[in-house]
Amino acid sequence: MKSALKRIALSVLIVSNSCSLLAQSVSLTITKRYLNLPVSQTQDRGTMQFLINNKPERSFKIRLAVDKPDYWVFCDMAALQGKTITINYDGKLEGLPKIYQDDKIAGQDSLYKEKNRPQYHFSTRRGWINDPNGLIFYEGEYHLFYQHNPYEREWENMSWGHAVSKDMIHWEELPTALSPDSLGTMFSGSTVIDYANTAGFNKGNVPAMIAFFTVDNPEKQIQCMAYSLDKGRTWTKYDRNPLIDSKAKWDSKDTRDPRVFWYTPGNHWVMVLNERDGHSIYTSKNLKEWTYESHVTGFWECPDLFELPIDGDKSKTKWVMYGASTTYMIGSFDGKTFTPESGKHYYTTGTIYAAQTFGNMPERDPRRIQIGWGRVPQPGMPFNHMMLLPTELTLRTTKNGLRLSSVPVKETEQLFEQAQHWSSLSAEEANEKLKSVNQLDQFRVKATLQLSHATSAGLSLFGQRILDYDLNSNLLNKVFYSPENRTSMELTADIYVDRTSIEVFIDGGAYSYSMERKPVLGNKEGLQFWGNRIAVKDITLYTAKSIWK
Ligand code: FRU
Repeated sequence: MKSALKRIALSVLIVSNSCSLLAQSVSLTITKRYLNLPVSQTQDRGTMQFLINNKPERSFKIRLAVDKPDYWVFCDMAALQGKTITINYDGKLEGLPKIYQDDKIAGQDSLYKEKNRPQYHFSTRRGWINDPNGLIFYEGEYHLFYQHNPYEREWENMSWGHAVSKDMIHWEELPTALSPDSLGTMFSGSTVIDYANTAGFNKGNVPAMIAFFTVDNPEKQIQCMAYSLDKGRTWTKYDRNPLIDSKAKWDSKDTRDPRVFWYTPGNHWVMVLNERDGHSIYTSKNLKEWTYESHVTGFWECPDLFELPIDGDKSKTKWVMYGASTTYMIGSFDGKTFTPESGKHYYTTGTIYAAQTFGNMPERDPRRIQIGWGRVPQPGMPFNHMMLLPTELTLRTTKNGLRLSSVPVKETEQLFEQAQHWSSLSAEEANEKLKSVNQLDQFRVKATLQLSHATSAGLSLFGQRILDYDLNSNLLNKVFYSPENRTSMELTADIYVDRTSIEVFIDGGAYSYSMERKPVLGNKEGLQFWGNRIAVKDITLYTAKSIWK
C-alpha cells in the first residue's frame, strides 16, 4: 500500500517501557499534506496526542492497528506545514511507526469508488458522521458542517466536519472545521452570518460566519461560539466561551444543539436550545449575551424553528418547530415565545434524524431546504453513515389542516435520466417488463399504483419491501398514512435507490420515509410488484449519475 521510504520519514524517539521496547512517541517535521494512520476495530481505543514545542496541539482517541489495518484514517496537516510534531500514544504501540505522511490519503485511488459508497448522497471520506450542523448558504456556496469522528467509523471525538457545494449535490470536503478543545468535544449547532457586526468580529466589510455549538464534557454541556472570516475555512473560538451554562437551572446534563437565527421584526437574534425536556428560546442583541425567554416541552435534541408561507402565499405564514426525530408542531412565534397551535405531526420517518434547514438563503430564493442525517450503516467501509437528499419543505393545506411536505430539491433532477416509461399495465405485465431492466445499482423509479383488492400490495427490490401499502390498516411501510382523497386506492411513490439507502416520497411529498437498502440474501428478483391484483398506472425508471468524479 505504501513504500517503506514514505513511511519512515519519521525520526523515532525511543522511550523504552518495561514491557516492550516500542516507541511511545514519534516526532516528525510536517512536509506533506496528510498524516495517514492505521486503524483496527478490534483494538481498544487509546489516546493520541500531538505536541508542538511541548504544547498539546490536539488529542483524540484512536484504535491504532497492531497488525494489518482494517482501514486508514488521516489528519489534514495543511495548517502545520514545516512544524515539528511529537506524537504520543497510550494504547498498543506497534502501529505508531506505521504512521506516515503523504500528499495523498491512504486509499485515495479508490476514494468514492468503494463498493458501498453512496453514489449520489453525501458521505465523508473517512470516519463517522451524524447530525448535519451549521447549514448555511453564503456567497454562492452551501456549507454542510456535520458531526464527525475523523479517526474511526464509529461515534467518538466529536468534531465539525465540513463540506461545500454550489448545488447541494456535488460536495467538496474541506479540513475539519472545529476540533475538540480543553472544554470538551464539539456537539451539534448552527451558523449565522453577522452582516451588521453585532458581535464585533467582522473585519472591514467581511462579515463573520459565526458558529454556535455545544461543548460536551463528562460533567456538562455548555453553549459556545467560534467565528470565521474566510468562509468557514478557518475558525477562531471565542475566548470567553461558554455563552450559556444552564445545567444547574435544568438540573440536567442535556442542554444542547443551539439553533440561531436573526428575527427581523424584533431586531434581535434568537437561539432555540434543547434543554432537558424541550426547546427553550433565548434572545440576544450581540450573539454573546443571551436572555432566557420561554420553553416548549416535548422535544428532544436538535431543534429547528422557521417561518413558512401557507400554500406559497407569503402574506400568510406559520412557524414550524421540530426536534431530532422531525416530529413537528405548527404555531406562531413572536420572537420570544413559540405558541403551538397544532401537532405533533410527522411528515417523514425512517433513517432520518437530527435534520436541519439552511440559513441565510438569498431573497431571490427563499426556499426552506433541509438535510437530515441518514442512519444508514456502510458495512466494511472506512466511513459510516450518510446525509439524505436535500429536500424542500413547504406548508400545505390538507384534509387534516396544515401539514409539512418534503420533496427532493430541484437541483437533484440533474442526477437522473429517464430510461424507461410504461403506463396502464397489470402488475404481471409490469413485472415482465421490469425483468429486462438490469441497471439496478443506483436508480430512481416513480410509480403510480392502484389497488383494487384488499389488502396489501407494493414494490420490492431483491425481496426487500420498499413499498408496502396495507389499505386495511392504512399502513405504509408500517406507518399510518391516509391519502388526501380518503377513499383513494391510488398511490404515487417516487423512490430514490442508492447503493446502501432508499428514500421514498409519497404523493408529491405528503409523506416520505427512508431505509437501509437490505436485499434478501440470494434473492434475484430485482424490482417487482407484489400483492393482490394491483394496476400499475404509470412507471418511470431513471438511471442515476454519481456525484463523485
Ligand atoms: C443527535 C445528537 C445531538 C448531539 C450530537 C452529538 O444525534 O445526540 O444532540 O449534539 O448528536 O454527536
